[in-house]
Amino acid sequence: MRARLDHLVVSALQQGAAVPAFTCYDFTTALAVVAAAEEAGCGAILLVAPKTAATPNGLRLITALRGLADSAAVPIAVQLDHASDLRVIADAVAAGADSVLADGSSLPYEDNIALVREARAVLAAQGHADVVIEAELGGLAGDEDRAFGADAAGPLTDGAGAATGTGAASAGLTDSGQVEDFVARTGAQLLAVAVGNVHGKYKGEPQLRWDVLQDIAVRTHIPLVLHGASGIPAEELVKAAAMNVGKVNFNTELRTGVLATLESETASHRADGENLQGLLGKWNAAAKDFAAGALSTLTK
Ligand code: 13P
Repeated sequence: MRARLDHLVVSALQQGAAVPAFTCYDFTTALAVVAAAEEAGCGAILLVAPKTAATPNGLRLITALRGLADSAAVPIAVQLDHASDLRVIADAVAAGADSVLADGSSLPYEDNIALVREARAVLAAQGHADVVIEAELGGLAGDEDRAFGADAAGPLTDGAGAATGTGAASAGLTDSGQVEDFVARTGAQLLAVAVGNVHGKYKGEPQLRWDVLQDIAVRTHIPLVLHGASGIPAEELVKAAAMNVGKVNFNTELRTGVLATLESETASHRADGENLQGLLGKWNAAAKDFAAGALSTLTK
C-alpha cells in the first residue's frame, strides 16, 4: 500500500523500531524486499539510485516500483536516493517516487541548504508539494553504488588500498551545532547524518560515533537516517531507533549476497536447460533473506 515515507518512519519510531531501505537496481530485488516486508508484517522503503533513475529505463523502473508498492499488503515507500540534479528529481517524482533525498552534502553549507530549498520549489511548482524530502548534513565517504573500501576519514580505495576517488564525497562528521539551523531552513522531513558511517565496505571495523548521533538527536525532532548500514553489526544497528534513527539504508551487502548466489548458481542453471526462471528465483531468495534479516534486526 502507498505510504508516506515520513509517516512510515515516525510510526516505526513510535514502536521503538526503524525502517530499512534497500537500493533496487531491478524489479527482482524489489519483489524480494516487498515479499520479505509482507512476511514480516512491517513497512519497507525501495530506494532508486540517481544513476539508475538517469538511465534510459530508470523512470520506468520507478513507475514499476510505485505500482509494486501500491499493491503491497504492507506500507511501502519509493525514494529517489542521493539526488543533486533537479531535473532527475523532478522526473523521478513525476514517474512515481514519493520521496527524495535532495543531497547537497558535498556542497558548502549554504549551497546544501539552497539545493534542498530549490528541490522543494521545483517539486511544488510541478504540483508535488507533498513529496517527502530527506536532506544530508556531513559528508559520507564512499560511493553509494560501489563496494570499494572506505573509511570515515579518508578517500576511497580499491581492493589493493589505492585511492580511486570514484564518486567520493569528502568525509566529515555532521556538525551537530548546524543541525537546528539546517533543519529549520531546509524544511527537510528527515535528516541523513554522517557519524562514522560510510557507503560500501568498511576498512576495518565500523567505528560509529554514537556520541555525535546522540548530540544530533537532541537537537531536532525530525527522524534521522543512517546510510551505509552494510557492514555495521546487528548489535549496533538495534541501537538506532533509540537515538531517533528511523530509517537505515542498505545496498552493498544486498549486492554481495545476490552476486554470490548468481556466481554459485549460474553454471547449474545453465546446464539445466538454461533455466533463467530458476536462477531468478535464487536471486529473489537471496535478496529476500537479506531483507528479512534487516527487517528483523531493526524491529527488535
Ligand atoms: P551501503 O551500500 O554501505 O549499505 O549504503 C547504502 C546506502 O546508504 C544507500 O543510500
